[in-house]
Amino acid sequence: MTQAALQYAASNSDRFLEELKALIRIPSISGISDYHPDVRRAAEWLAAHINTIGFSNAQVVESIALPLVYAERIIDPSKPTVLVYGHFDVQPVDPVSLWHTPPFEPTLKGDSLYARGAVDDKGPTLAIIKALESLIATDGLNVNIKILLEGEEESGSESISHYVEHNVTALACDYILILDTGMVAKDVPTITHSLRGMTYVEITANGAKGDLHSGGYGGIAPNPIQALAWVLADLKGRDGFINLPGLYEMLRPLSSEERAILDRQSQQRGEALMAAAGIDSFPGEQQYSAMERMTSRPTFEVHGIIGGFIGEGTKTVIPAEAKAKVSLRLAPGQDSHKVFHLLKARVAELAPEAVKMDVVWLNGGEPLLLPLDAAVLKVAAAAYGAEFPQNPVEYVRGGGSIPVAALFDSKLKAPCVMLGFGLSDDNVHAPNEKFHLPYYNAAIRTCIRFFSQLGE
Ligand code: BES
Ligand code: MN
Ligand code: MN
Repeated sequence: MTQAALQYAASNSDRFLEELKALIRIPSISGISDYHPDVRRAAEWLAAHINTIGFSNAQVVESIALPLVYAERIIDPSKPTVLVYGHFDVQPVDPVSLWHTPPFEPTLKGDSLYARGAVDDKGPTLAIIKALESLIATDGLNVNIKILLEGEEESGSESISHYVEHNVTALACDYILILDTGMVAKDVPTITHSLRGMTYVEITANGAKGDLHSGGYGGIAPNPIQALAWVLADLKGRDGFINLPGLYEMLRPLSSEERAILDRQSQQRGEALMAAAGIDSFPGEQQYSAMERMTSRPTFEVHGIIGGFIGEGTKTVIPAEAKAKVSLRLAPGQDSHKVFHLLKARVAELAPEAVKMDVVWLNGGEPLLLPLDAAVLKVAAAAYGAEFPQNPVEYVRGGGSIPVAALFDSKLKAPCVMLGFGLSDDNVHAPNEKFHLPYYNAAIRTCIRFFSQLGE
């Protein structure tokens, strides 16, 4: 059975690649509203495509914001049900000038397919669908499948969160499969069992009612950019400690075994991580290992600051307003809304006199920590490990976030399996994103084996 599906995938691999290219050509950027019609087109493309591979009920599902795609194929209620998740939206492409090829024209160079969304997450998502096609076409699908895809993962996951909350019974499943994470190194099969959460906000600082002459008012007027700089510096010191009372108290402590694993992984990966980023040290909390800081500690990052004058020449002005976009990554135990309220209160407390500061919630999600003893992980490790027999399967905590994953865990209460096919030099979210194309086929084969084995 499995063999026939693997054979089908091999015989159809050229077409599978063309289909991935077609999906990639749709510029489904969820973060920019001008592209929302394209996010919808990607949803329509996927629903129609899923109906061509043997599903009959795939549909675009309207929710509170951008649409979702849902399909199911129930072959036998006594068989296990797998809920498959992926996202078809992508990050913005700016700065476009740094791309070597057009971001939405998939370009093959050697083994790499360059394009926005190639690895995050169109390639891996379509790989699951191509595995299902291969199994259905060869009469080998022996598990029930529910497919739930979203077009808003990169910008809040509002719609899918709402949908999951209201469709707990319809989404009932035994296992959840997600291909949206990375590998620790080339050809090392990597199962991610933890993700961080997030609280993403915009901080606005307002001083006078309009811009002021810096001579006429200098020395007596409030400066919102300066005030924002003070507050941001107060919130995180040079030692990397986040000065937000209550934040660390929520953190689930690590056992000495867990910490030892992170220490070992830091030894193994530290150099490569530095080299890939072009840095020669890791600033931050020196008393914790790099991997602990990257996966199991909260972060505070300023993503951008805007305000005042930055044009050609000089302009002596005291700006009336400044803004910053800031996020905290949250580690297991921390709650995104509680952190938001702590931050809002703390900013109000730190704001200097005469500058009004407001903190607005933009995006967020909860962290996730999965037990490593779920039986399904053994099945997944065997299916995945078979692709990379030269290396043992690594189990890692991820530093990134997939907001709906924690919701699946808390509402559907089924074990989640996250198999990674991204490499650290894939330029995820950056110019020249790529997908290591052999992993498209490896992901398809892994999923074929995984589904087959679960249905045995
Ligand atoms: N695929 C990533 C998440 C990821 C990356 C998990 C690497 C584990 C390892 C996902 O598409 C992503 O980028 N998520 C955003 C979510 C955020 C906007 C709420 C992230 O992590 O920044
Ligand atoms: Mn992703
Ligand atoms: Mn992403």
